[in-house]
Amino acid sequence: MNPIVVEFQDVTKVFGNSKANDQLSFKIKRNSIHALVGENGAGKSTAMKILFGLVSADSGKILIDGKPERIHSTLRARALGLGMVHQHFVLATEHSALENVLFSETVSPFQILNRTQKKIEYQKLAEQYGFQIPWDKSVAELSVGEQQRVEILKVLQQKARLLILDEPTAVLTPQEVLGFFKNLQELKNQGCTIVLITHKLKEVLAICDTVTVIRQGHAVQTLAVADTNQDQLAEMMVGRRIQWSRRELNPGTSAPKQNEPILKIPAHQPLAFQVNAGEVVGVAGVEGNGQTELIEAILNIKKAQASKIHMGVFPEDRLRVGSVPKASVMENFILGFDSDPAFCNHGWLRWNEVKKSTVESLQKYDVRPVSPELPFEQFSGGNQQKIIVARELCRNPEFILAAQPTRGVDVGAVEFIHEELLRAQERGAGILLISFDLDELLKLSARILVLFNKKFVLELDRENFNELELGRAMGSGART
Ligand SMILES: Nc1ncnc2c1ncn2[C@@H]1O[C@H](COP(=O)(O)OP(=O)(O)OP(=O)(O)O)[C@@H](O)[C@H]1O
Ligand SMILES: [Mg+2]
Repeated sequence: MNPIVVEFQDVTKVFGNSKANDQLSFKIKRNSIHALVGENGAGKSTAMKILFGLVSADSGKILIDGKPERIHSTLRARALGLGMVHQHFVLATEHSALENVLFSETVSPFQILNRTQKKIEYQKLAEQYGFQIPWDKSVAELSVGEQQRVEILKVLQQKARLLILDEPTAVLTPQEVLGFFKNLQELKNQGCTIVLITHKLKEVLAICDTVTVIRQGHAVQTLAVADTNQDQLAEMMVGRRIQWSRRELNPGTSAPKQNEPILKIPAHQPLAFQVNAGEVVGVAGVEGNGQTELIEAILNIKKAQASKIHMGVFPEDRLRVGSVPKASVMENFILGFDSDPAFCNHGWLRWNEVKKSTVESLQKYDVRPVSPELPFEQFSGGNQQKIIVARELCRNPEFILAAQPTRGVDVGAVEFIHEELLRAQERGAGILLISFDLDELLKLSARILVLFNKKFVLELDRENFNELELGRAMGSGART
């Protein structure tokens, strides 16, 4: 058997005036876990979409088991034994979680699927992966994490021999990630080959055998994970050294009583808390323990205009809540600000001003490409996140609700977003940071609150941060 399952040979794909893949060449060894890393917009998802028959290359070749293949459709890809978990979920939102997995079955025209039996089968598979799935809820009602699990199960039940995973862990909790990785190892032991796209270099070092670094659509290098480290990978990705922590952090006061609260949910409510001006308050917790309710409570304050504070919001689900995917970036930029005199003159939008201001923000936040007219959905995942951050921060809000602010962004951009949040805090903004990433919370917060079972069960000030204690509170009887 050919030891190479997939080979990219000089694959090129151009969108408009940007080269998403530029003579991309690399090989994936059979029975390995192969990481693809690179900056936001480097061309990772495009390469995998070409392999999976969703995008057609302009030139170049793809060899499967040593044979050139023309993969024009996902049907062909699946017939070749490929399966893909997409960065942006492809789910029928009106249908239940169960139906979405059923839809992914390959059935002949005369075959009838037994729904009850299938549900038992899927549940067994889900348990094996430690995933909780509310089978009968419609996808529209599921949290991002739950959608991610449905998306993964859809592909797992297909028993693909080459599994492509595009940022599968971006919204999984640390516990779920551990369970998921154990199962990936198991799949590999059974003969499966896995391609993992991730921005978390720790994950690459933990479970991958080989890694290909992509920069500006081109494979910079493919190397054994055993022969590299986080710094070297980061440097290859961005073409310069990454300074992991650029300065002494000062995430604000940890003595709330002395300050004016900028946002407060009163004590009689289940999720009572307050954030002071110039303070970053972190919220830790396993997903599903009240994060959604907390975000809703805050958005209700915003809607009710009970407080006149200017609020910036990074929503958890950027494609469903934070944006109009088919509209251009500049249209997305003035969502909610269309009557701002800077952009509006007697009811007429001043598009030149909107465009100018959008371009400035895109440049400042290093969003690529700097194309204000391009539809939001045509930006790479991480760049979409940067657009939202840029839009929300450029108006200097007094309070920022940051839910998973660095989801899917590359290592350089994580540093950048962290710096920007701290800069906002320094000029006096109050920030509520909801994150599944404990490292992020420990780095940025003045105080951390732990959510469990829809209540805050622990509060620690920065000087008393203790990972063990936080972990224990997060897991106290949690659904893991
Ligand atoms: N359908 C499309 N139309 C126009 N441009 C596109 C389209 N899809 C991707 N691009 C562009 O191709 C480039 C590569 O995008 P791709 O999604 O492959 O990046 P990526 O490496 O997966 O990034 P990320 O880490 O942010 O997910 C980006 O500049 C993106 O804007
Ligand atoms: Mg991508």
